[in-house]
Amino acid sequence: MNVDTLSRRWFLCAISYFVVGISLGVFMGASEDHTLFPVHAHINLLGWVAMSLTGLLYRVFPAAAQSVLAVWHFWLFQAAVPLMMAAVAAIYLGHREAGPIAGISSIVVLVSVLLFWWNIFSSRNSKMS
Ligand code: HEM
Ligand code: HEM
Repeated sequence: MNVDTLSRRWFLCAISYFVVGISLGVFMGASEDHTLFPVHAHINLLGWVAMSLTGLLYRVFPAAAQSVLAVWHFWLFQAAVPLMMAAVAAIYLGHREAGPIAGISSIVVLVSVLLFWWNIFSSRNSKMS
């Protein structure tokens, strides 16, 4: 994929998670109910922080954006993070049966990050074609 398109996609997702993450933070502060603080933390950290850094990293390694691995990385991460956040929220709200969904989705996040790692390392010396 074109590096401009890819990094813009990551940034659009990142800034959307930022809105949701700090909204949950403001809600927790206002309601004095901090039950969902790990969800707030990870929406901000996996969403806003990690997705922004990912968008920047593809700009530093533009050849990696051209690989099909970049497409798999994007879609696996974008599918798994909301599922993981919903499952972790359900667990903290008392639905422990959401545990397997949290587990599987977090493994998918890990797999997508391994694809990212492999893609960056294997393309780091190539010029953009
Ligand atoms: C207006 C913005 C924000 C508000 C109102 C807010 C509010 C809160 C509140 C009320 C808690 C729970 C504290 C506790 O129970 O100990 C919390 C925890 C946390 N927040 Fe935020 N937050 C905001 C933005 C952010 C951002 C941008 C990040 C990350 C980039 C972040 C990361 C965290 C983390 C990691 C925790 C857990 C800290 C711990 O382990 O005790 N927050 N936040
Ligand atoms: C698949 C990815 C991830 C998984 C499965 C994961 C899992 C966890 C777990 C199980 C905890 C302990 C929660 C508790 O004791 O209630 C935790 C806490 C924490 N994690 Fe993660 N994490 C992930 C990604 C990240 C990333 C990317 C960051 C930072 C950029 C991060 C930062 C933190 C912080 C600051 C805490 C302490 C605040 C809290 O308890 O929510 N995590 N994480």
